[in-house]
Amino acid sequence: KFDILNKKLAEAKLGGGEKRIASQHGKKKLTARERIEYFFDEGSFEEIGAFVTHRTKDFGLDKEYYLGDGVITGYGTVNGRLVYAFAQDFTVFGGALSETHAEKICKVMDMALKVGAPMIGLNDSGGARIQEGVRSLGGYADIFFRNVQASGVIPQISAIMGPCAGGAVYSPAMTDFTMMVEGSSYMFVTGPNVVKTVTNETVTAEELGGASTHSTKSGVAHTTSTNDVECLEDVKRLLSYIPQNNQETVEDLPYELGNELRDQLNTIVPDNANKPYDMHDVINNVIDEDSFFEIHKNYAENIIVGFARVAGKSVGIVANNPMFLAGCLDVNSSIKSARFVRFCDAFNIPLLVLVDVPGFLPGTDQEWNGIIVHGAKLLYALSEATVPKVTVITRKAYGGAYDVMNSKHIGADMNFAWPGAEIAVMGAKGASEIIFKREIAEAADPAAKLAEREAEYAEKFANPYSAAQRGFIDEVIFPQDTRRKLIKAFKMLENKEVATPNRKHGNIPL
Ligand code: COA
Repeated sequence: KFDILNKKLAEAKLGGGEKRIASQHGKKKLTARERIEYFFDEGSFEEIGAFVTHRTKDFGLDKEYYLGDGVITGYGTVNGRLVYAFAQDFTVFGGALSETHAEKICKVMDMALKVGAPMIGLNDSGGARIQEGVRSLGGYADIFFRNVQASGVIPQISAIMGPCAGGAVYSPAMTDFTMMVEGSSYMFVTGPNVVKTVTNETVTAEELGGASTHSTKSGVAHTTSTNDVECLEDVKRLLSYIPQNNQETVEDLPYELGNELRDQLNTIVPDNANKPYDMHDVINNVIDEDSFFEIHKNYAENIIVGFARVAGKSVGIVANNPMFLAGCLDVNSSIKSARFVRFCDAFNIPLLVLVDVPGFLPGTDQEWNGIIVHGAKLLYALSEATVPKVTVITRKAYGGAYDVMNSKHIGADMNFAWPGAEIAVMGAKGASEIIFKREIAEAADPAAKLAEREAEYAEKFANPYSAAQRGFIDEVIFPQDTRRKLIKAFKMLENKEVATPNRKHGNIPL
């Protein structure tokens, strides 16, 4: 009796067979089983449904079946925490999704949601199992529906480690993070051949939907990794900043307070207000050493988002970066940061917002692409967020962008500004040109008049004190003291609770 079980277990382990495993390795990819083994804590993975097979009789499939049907599903621990996962097995029908393959995925998704633990998908699939037709499409939709039910309740992460095309892309798109492997993964709704037929464009799969395309052009990919192992490590690292579910918080790492002053912060912002500097330098001096895990690193670089630890506490960071577009908000940076803020808020991760923003990016391109609606996303997301919210204005906070970037008015809990901060409707020159237009035009020396009025306006508003006077800024702080202030603020806000109005859901501008 044991012989049969042993034989079946060995058969299931082999997936699509030695030849196809060798072909997978030839593409520098791990097999589904190797990925699972690498991902979970040693010996912790328990497989569910290893003997499931498809039910198709058409096209000769009654004679071709593989135990597990092209997907490994189950649960285990990752750094001691319960996690559910599926890993598509490209060696079995190219990892194509059948009705039963989908049922296996749905089964673990249902469990993850009931139990309240993260759901990880390792995608490597040729799409819908073509021989099954609509049954396979139904399987996709069953997964999509569950993605939506689980959204904001348990973290969902998709690693793309091979093809992911057609309908298959919409499950990752609805999960919280999509992490791609460079060179061996691609995602598109329609592949290069269809593109050629319909639009007559000639494009390779890599150009159309490879990791670099999606991490720089489309923003579909949140992170990229150089190979399978690195990608799995990145998933584990990401998990370390996020809780099991929306009812829990992330455990603080042990941290002993020491000298929290950071003198380097005093010299990062240049004296010349028009000179750029890299906001990463500020981030790295206020967070715990090497704790920054950046999301969307190479996409909409005028805003930085990512997770970090501050005195052991997990926080989400949103920061303008004056290195790109002078740190202006535009369509892509608004979408990028709004989504990040909503993830943090859904999963009880406090937010730190670092501000150096001259305003929204002007131009027809931005207006015609709907900066009004997209900019509103970030405004909406930050206003809606009830997690602890702390702001530091390092330099500029101008115009509507001042309001958007976690101002006091939209519910920020602690608003700090550095002494060089400029908080105003617009820059002193532009403001003077408008309000003193006639006076300047009529002056004997218009340039001198403008300079005089500009200096006057700058003295009045290009500082943090008029905002501090009204309580819009809680405290003007020395840059070197920022980390210490943040540690105390986040500790103080630990038990923040906000009651929100009863409603089905808000209507974020999409
Ligand atoms: N349904 C059923 N079987 C599939 C499949 C699918 N959607 N996609 C791939 N396969 C099978 C292939 O028949 C092949 O079987 P074999 O090992 O018995 O020969 C195996 O998976 C590997 O596919 P192959 O084409 O040899 O691999 P590749 O690396 O050269 O190409 C793809 C991978 C994904 C680009 C290619 O298989 C493909 O275009 N598949 C169809 C994609 C699609 O249009 N899906 C439906 C829309 S959702």
